Amino acid sequence: MSLEVIILAAGKGKRMRSGLPKVLHTLAGKPLINHVLETARALAPRAIHVVCGPDHQAVQAVAGGDLVQCVVQAEQLGTGHAVLQALPQAGPEALVLVLYADVPLVSGDTLRAVIDGAAQGALSLLTVVVDDPGGYGRILRDAQGRIAGIVEERDASDDQRNINEVNTGILAASARALEGWLARIGDDNDQNEFYLTDVVALARQDGTAIHATAAPGKEEVLGVNSRQDLAILERAYQRRMAQALMSRGVTVIDPNRLDVRGRITAGRDCALDVNVVLEGNVELGDRVTIGPNNVIRDSTIGDDVVVLANCVIEQASIAAGVRIGPFARIRPGTRVQQQVHIGNFVEIKNSELRTGAKVNHLSYVGDTTVGRNTNIGAGVITCNYDGAHKHRTEIGDDVFIGSNCQLVAPVTIDQGATIGAGSTITNDVPERTLAVTRARQRHVAGWRRPSKDGKR
Ligand code: UD1
Ligand code: CA
Repeated sequence: MSLEVIILAAGKGKRMRSGLPKVLHTLAGKPLINHVLETARALAPRAIHVVCGPDHQAVQAVAGGDLVQCVVQAEQLGTGHAVLQALPQAGPEALVLVLYADVPLVSGDTLRAVIDGAAQGALSLLTVVVDDPGGYGRILRDAQGRIAGIVEERDASDDQRNINEVNTGILAASARALEGWLARIGDDNDQNEFYLTDVVALARQDGTAIHATAAPGKEEVLGVNSRQDLAILERAYQRRMAQALMSRGVTVIDPNRLDVRGRITAGRDCALDVNVVLEGNVELGDRVTIGPNNVIRDSTIGDDVVVLANCVIEQASIAAGVRIGPFARIRPGTRVQQQVHIGNFVEIKNSELRTGAKVNHLSYVGDTTVGRNTNIGAGVITCNYDGAHKHRTEIGDDVFIGSNCQLVAPVTIDQGATIGAGSTITNDVPERTLAVTRARQRHVAGWRRPSKDGKR
């Protein structure tokens, strides 16, 4: 039997109090539904059917792609009704796994256990034992301990409410069997909805085996109903990320103050201080030290790099032995070679800094090549924009640019040149030449400052 996944995503999510469909709210920077789609894809199904509500266009836009098709459930008549909307799209020989777009952390291993149960012909449920079963459907078992049905809390007796084995909602069965059961369910319950959970009692009547997999922990099967739930799941996810990094040899100073919003690879003996946010694809080499309050997005950071506090690094590649910060901003398109120093209040954009270059204080370097061992003094600005176009600044090796200079692009400063402090450079400077453009200093001896009594 080939696997097909149905993901329920049609609920309004009223408790989010949001203009955005619930399943588009993000966890670790990614819409909830994308977490579930990723987990589903890893199971290598033949197809994924997403059951969307009336605001399906927005959901469809993120859920599109290979394997995925959306089915619109115009009216939310219940979880059983939702599954019925997608079943005609699944092949009759399919084995169907039902997932929820608002249950983002369920793991592939757990789902494989559920699928195995259904592959043996059973109706396979994922259950979990919790301290506080409030709000969940309760699992009913007979005297022999076999599952007899599921009762929703609002339809349950007082005794049944004390049961703390609950339904996660996730289940798997053959498409044909599910279709048969769902054709027989009614909406005679407190909410007048067609409950997917009613298939359990029908399977029991038909003598179909019912298999239960116990989820290894509650976090995996928690759903998002409110922004409070979202915050709880975000932390649970981030703790997982921190644990994974630590077990791969990374020091995380405080696992509660690290945020990973993407894919991170790290070598050995890296250290992440508090409030580090890693987004997109971030690759860290060996012995990288990231100080507090750093945001690093889609960047490669080489061995032994030190990033001091409060930097933002985005779409950059930083080679081994570089030191950055504190308070530096490295913008897209920046390539930094080995042993470069970038200091405080420095902004670098779309530039190449070659080995050993230094930009230590208060500078803007944009659309520029900075040669090997070149020193850029404090407060140097590359004027790369003329109001309409961007222009490049080319600076050779071993150049010394004094403090508070403006380099008006396009301009080339050849190897070994020196620019006097306070100069505005508009013409190319030949190699090993001193260029100074500031006015000469003059002296007025014995100068008296104005004073309040009018006397000089
Ligand atoms: C459901 C289960 C309950 C289980 C709980 C776990 C039923 C009847 N109950 O209850 O046993 O303990 O999940 O969280 O299944 N949805 C649709 N279309 C609909 C109705 C719902 O797509 O017409 C989607 C919702 O978007 C949501 C999911 O199905 O993602 C669950 O629906 P919800 O109404 O939240 O069910 P619960 O009352 O939580
Ligand atoms: Ca729910």
